[in-house]
Parts: sequence; structure tokens; C-alpha cells
Amino acid sequence: MSASNTPTATCPFSGATSASSAVEESAGGTAAGASPAAAMTGVEAPVADWVTIPDLHADPFPIYQRMRSESPVHWVPAVNRYMVTSYAACHEIEQDEERFSADENNSLMKRAMGHSMLRKDNPKHQVDRDSYGSTLRPGTIKKHWNEIFAVNHEKYLSELVAKGPGADFVWDYAAPYTAENLRLICGFHNASQQDMQRWSQTMIDGTGNYADDPEIWDKSAASSAEVDAAIDEMLPYLAKNPDHSLLSGLASMPIPLEAIRANLKMTIGGGLNEPRDVLATTIWALLNHPEQLEAVKNDAKLHAVAFEESVRWVAPIGMYPRETTQDVVLEGVHLPKGSRLGVVLGAANRDPEVFEDPESFNIFRPKKPHLGFGGGVHFCAGTWIARAQVAQIAMPALLERIPDLRLDPTAPSIDAGWVFRGMTKMPVTWG
Ligand code: HEM
Repeated sequence: MSASNTPTATCPFSGATSASSAVEESAGGTAAGASPAAAMTGVEAPVADWVTIPDLHADPFPIYQRMRSESPVHWVPAVNRYMVTSYAACHEIEQDEERFSADENNSLMKRAMGHSMLRKDNPKHQVDRDSYGSTLRPGTIKKHWNEIFAVNHEKYLSELVAKGPGADFVWDYAAPYTAENLRLICGFHNASQQDMQRWSQTMIDGTGNYADDPEIWDKSAASSAEVDAAIDEMLPYLAKNPDHSLLSGLASMPIPLEAIRANLKMTIGGGLNEPRDVLATTIWALLNHPEQLEAVKNDAKLHAVAFEESVRWVAPIGMYPRETTQDVVLEGVHLPKGSRLGVVLGAANRDPEVFEDPESFNIFRPKKPHLGFGGGVHFCAGTWIARAQVAQIAMPALLERIPDLRLDPTAPSIDAGWVFRGMTKMPVTWG
């Protein structure tokens, strides 16, 4: 079970914690109906003391509905930060790194993985981002990765079929498939897909270790050291035997080793769960909506549409952190300098101001941009490679090979999490 799947867990991308220290100053009013003076300075954020981590973990969406209807921003003691839930407010944060910094103070992600591009502001961030070169870009995916993903997919789909009805869609297929892809994207020819899954999970657990559990730190540090050793071994090899991987590109770049290590660890943590989760969530949603499944089977273009609708409907990264660099008024709410924010993509993507009937999975809805891949300078660097692995390669081949795939009626599926959300159990059957 992943960190995201435990009620008390926190995450590298959110920095959220269940530890509730000093409850912020005030309850105060909401942005709606503020006086003219308050409109200039902003009203204080309401306190959502009714929000609990276990409730968020089980099903965050009713909570987000209530929060959005009250105010775009709340102080949430259980999470120990302000949670921003409206589309407009999340979008504003993403577009303005001067007021909303990604370089969070006391970041456990930095402790567990080092200081990666995801926790840097520009201009430093851009140097790291550029160091990823063309590996994740559409041209390289088309020319190089799609063929490799197809081979990997065939292997893990065959393993699922061999396992037979009752196999778990996530753990017997989606997880090893996406882990193997990420292994090759990174260039870890000296590791296995199982190593990738273990590294990813233990480092994510480390970045969420607000309880300071020494056992979690030990495992995270052990993985971090293994990744360092694997990088140290691969860089000279790839300098002589270049391929299309991230490490191969980095082997010839004037980038400090510390940055290479941190960025690779962040990518191991962030590039594995999300394609896995979106693959499982999309298929789960389609299996629950037979008319939409039928449409996808009959029209190849709809694989990509179903993928995007799935990322909107259940954002795989449900929340990530930012910190205010000055006093700001966000959608009418005052936030003091140094406020820790949770940008709740899972809520923004279901904002009724933007999406009609937002709680429904509907591949036929009018096309509107969702925020599932973030935005601004940190817009997900793996967007295109995630689309390729899932929508272009996996979905068409899977639905062709097992056209009568069904959810196992004897073993219910489970979806869980809020910082990362996805299927944690999904037994399937066919035949
Ligand atoms: C459906 C799958 C995915 C989703 C929904 C997703 C989502 C996101 C989001 C929301 C962010 C921004 C977080 C923030 O601003 O704090 C992000 C950043 C990032 N993602 Fe993804 N991601 C996915 C797949 C991947 C994959 C497969 C890779 C790599 C192979 C990847 C690599 C990255 C990197 C390197 C960043 C940091 C970008 C930067 O700081 O400039 N992602 N992702």
C-alpha cells in the first residue's frame, strides 16, 4: 500500500501533514459578501476544523464540494496548511511563482530526495528543467519510446492474462508496466522494475514522514543511497554508450551531481504512481460506464479523451504545496507572508464554475482545460510520456486483447487517497 493510501500519510508533492500545530489565528468571514475594505485587504480564511485526514483519504470529493461552496481558501488544522479549492484560485497560484513559491521551507521532500526542480523557483528551476533535454518530449516519444512501451506492455499484459481471472489490475499489470517504462526512461539499466517500485514508495514515505519515524527515515535513506549508487554507476557508462534516457542526457551536461540525484529521485517518486493510477482509474471508470466503454472501443480517438477526463475526474496528484512570499489577497482571501498552501487540484478539477456536472465521469463533456498536470513553470514535464504510455499504448492493446474485461463482482475494487488518489485494489475477470 502506498503512502498516499494510508490515512495519515503525507506526500512529497503536497507536503501536507496530519500533525495539527498552532491553529491559525482566526476563523473570520468568507470572501463572499466581503465589505469594500475587506475586498482591498481580503477577508480571513475560514477554518475548516471539521476536515479530517481519514475522511479525506476515504473520499475527499464531498469535502471539497462543501469547502468550495463556502470559500476558495480555508485554513485546515488537520492538514496544517491553507487548502485552496477553487479552479480560479489554483490557476492564479500556478501562474505566479513570484508570490507563490515552490521552494517551501522545512520541506521533507528536500530532506528525503534533495533539492529538486520541483522545489526551486526560476531562474534556478529552469536550469534543472532544461537539463532533462528531449527525453520526455513528443518527438522522442514518437521516434523512440512508443516502440519500447509497446514491448513492455505486451510483456505485462501477457503476465496478467497468464495469471487469469481474479488478477489485480493495479499490482499485477499497471504497476510493473509503468515501473518498467520509468526504469528505461530514467536509464537505470542496473536496476529492476521492482527496485523502481521500492525506491519510489520508500522515498515517498520519507517525504511524508512528519511523525519522524526513524524506521521510515532509514528505509528512505537506504533507497536514496541505492539511487545515488545506481546513478554513479550509470553516468560513466551512459557517457560512453548513450541512449535516449534522462541519465544519458545528463551524463554530458554541466549539472552538479547533487541536482542530478535530486531530480532523478523526484522523478522516480512522481513518474511512477501517476501513470499507474490514471491507467487503472480510467479503465475502472469505463468498466462502470458501459456505454462510454463501447464508444471508446469503437473510436480510437476516444482513448486520449477518456485519459484526460480521468485525470480531470480523479487528479492522480490531488494536492501540491506552495508558500506565499509576501502578504497576498487570493480570490478575496488574505494570506500572510509565509503561509503554507495546498493547491488542491482534485477540487479545482471538479469546480462547477468551470465544469458542468463535475462529479460525473463523462468522456462526452465539452472540452475544457483541467489542472491535473499542474500549470505555469512546473507544468508536468512527463505529460506527453504519460499520455503515450497509457492512452496510446496500453488502453487500445488491453481492450483489444481482453474485450470482455470486467470488474470482479466477488471482490470489490477500492479507490483511496487524496494527495495521491488511485485504485488500491482492482480485481478483474474475463472469459
Ligand atoms: C498522469 C500522469 C501524471 C500526472 C497527473 C502528473 C502530474 C504532475 C503535476 C501536477 C506536477 C506539478 C507539481 C507541482 O507544481 O508542484 C508534475 C510535475 C512533474 N512531473 Fe508529472 N505527472 C504525471 C506523470 C509524470 C511522468 C510519467 C513523469 C516522468 C517520467 C513526470 C515528471 C514530472 C516532473 C519532472 C515534474 C516537475 C516539473 C517541474 O518542476 O518543472 N510526471 N506532474
